[in-house]
Amino acid sequence: MATVCTHPKILPTPAATVSSINIPKSSQSQLLFRSHLHNPKTPNFLVSPPNLHTTSNPHHLKPHILCSQTDNPKPTRRPDYIPNRISDPNYVRIFDTTLRDGEQSPGASLTSKEKLDIARQLAKLGVDIIEAGFPASSKDDAEAVKMIAKEVGNAVDKDGYVPVICGLSRCNKNDIQTAWDAVKYAKRPRIHTFIATSPIHLEYKLRKSKEQVIEIARNMVKFARELGCDDVEFSPEDAGRSEREFLYQILGEVIKAGATTLNIPDTVGYNVPEEYSQLIADIKSNTPGIDNVIISTHCQNDLGLSTANTLAGACAGARQLEVTINGIGERAGNASLEEVVLTLNCRGEQVLGGLYTGINTKHIYVTSKMVEEYTGLHVQPHKAIVGANAFAHESGIHQDGMLKHKGTYEIISPEDIGYERSNEAGIVLGKLSGRHALRNRLAELGYELENDQLATIFERFKAVAEQKKSITDADLGALVRDEVFQPEVVWKLHDLQVTCGTLGLSTATVKLIDADGREHVACSIGTGPVDSAYKAVDLIVKEPVTLVEYSMNAVTEGIDAIATTRVVIRLENSHTVTHAQTGESVQRTFSGIGAGMDIVVSSVKAYIGALNKMIGFKERSPPKFPAERNKVSA
Ligand code: KIV
Repeated sequence: MATVCTHPKILPTPAATVSSINIPKSSQSQLLFRSHLHNPKTPNFLVSPPNLHTTSNPHHLKPHILCSQTDNPKPTRRPDYIPNRISDPNYVRIFDTTLRDGEQSPGASLTSKEKLDIARQLAKLGVDIIEAGFPASSKDDAEAVKMIAKEVGNAVDKDGYVPVICGLSRCNKNDIQTAWDAVKYAKRPRIHTFIATSPIHLEYKLRKSKEQVIEIARNMVKFARELGCDDVEFSPEDAGRSEREFLYQILGEVIKAGATTLNIPDTVGYNVPEEYSQLIADIKSNTPGIDNVIISTHCQNDLGLSTANTLAGACAGARQLEVTINGIGERAGNASLEEVVLTLNCRGEQVLGGLYTGINTKHIYVTSKMVEEYTGLHVQPHKAIVGANAFAHESGIHQDGMLKHKGTYEIISPEDIGYERSNEAGIVLGKLSGRHALRNRLAELGYELENDQLATIFERFKAVAEQKKSITDADLGALVRDEVFQPEVVWKLHDLQVTCGTLGLSTATVKLIDADGREHVACSIGTGPVDSAYKAVDLIVKEPVTLVEYSMNAVTEGIDAIATTRVVIRLENSHTVTHAQTGESVQRTFSGIGAGMDIVVSSVKAYIGALNKMIGFKERSPPKFPAERNKVSA
């Protein structure tokens, strides 16, 4: 919105002096970079730090061409967790909000089981803090956060690592109490409370004065501490468009009230990197008591700057970075975990002051796929780090370079994110391959399957191998995700037959199996094969849903490609949640993904997946008597 972009209230403030910023000791080049950063004449945050190739930089001796982990060994032990302090000034905490901000993406509703699976995966990644949800938004969310707190929040590993489990709350007693009731089961529970501070939010959303907002924030942080929570995060929402003096004042007050982390959200993705780094630096220089807390970033992606802003914030002294897997989140999303972490891994030592995280990047690929599948939010092929093309080399010149030396066109190795590329085409298995080879390859790709899951995948693998010359890693991934990353099965597709063409109406016959193993058959006509098949499914399942979105992609090239289909559905007048920031009731939508060589089968699987997810929300258990559900049908 042009009017917002020309908002006049962002006032220039005195630049922080270099000495006021907590500069990691380890990097001379970073020191030079910072002084450059705070030179008012410097036009852009992303300029190269000067002097990188002088003798003060140990890397000048060996040109750095790859960021692979073997090239860049990291400290293995993360500092002990103390809410308001980190013993190593270079360590940066990763706060993952996929399950909260990420779930606010349209169509991204997750069931409790899916949230638990993702939380387990985030713990494998080693994120420091998991924001597991917004418990006051719905009973479902409160239950999911509680389950995650009990299970993931108590699974201490051999090094003593266990993630902090955090619940979001607005600044009111009911939200804070509900968040505490959910997170308190974790070994390290955290309450994250927020209230808006920008002039536009104060005037139009809150209709409160600055004094009133300070009073509420102070009292609510105090209330959270009095409940027994010793790890309280406070966010002045829309800090990116708030007045500096007001921020210093409210932040100083919540520190006195007991806040341990101060998160500085660029809620509408309005800031540019230099501006955001200045905001963090100014808060660091001017807020009373700031040295006793951790500063955090939370950068939305409305202008596509969330990763750059997050890193700029880290360079200015933030030691907690809020991110999501695949960058999903409200509107244009959030800073993506994989981009932020890989940048710190890749360039941290050289140009980012030696900053590092405790993330085990080998789990990134599978986590990304799991989040993609469960949320139904496709990752664009050219997405950095996790997109399908991120490690593909199409042009002859690039392929030639890659064959001569991978460093010519690849700065990180796919292996670093857990994607093992066995050869350039990724072709590994064919119809003569056995179960053992399949298990090994899947394990290399990061999928560790139970025996029964492997048996099902093996059956499907053989069926595809009968029809397709070679099976790529992408095909395997699609099959596994189609079977494993699925909601609890209520309805399952057994058989499908369609006739279509120019001679008459399309007709579909569908056989589904219910949770008790009973068969249900229906047939219907429709405007095309998918429409008639969906209508036949509707005749059996009898849920009054609206199809909100339908899309299809081919996973690999060629006529024998595996197709994945994504659908989003909505059940009318049902499943509302309270939106964290607007407080409005929002209707949930449910997505499903299906994969197969037959596009109609893939489409029907996706539809049934979305229906299963929706029914799982509604009933929390598989239907015993399908006939009973007929009562709610339209
Ligand atoms: O974008 C935002 O301001 C938020 C806060 C609740 C942290 O999500």
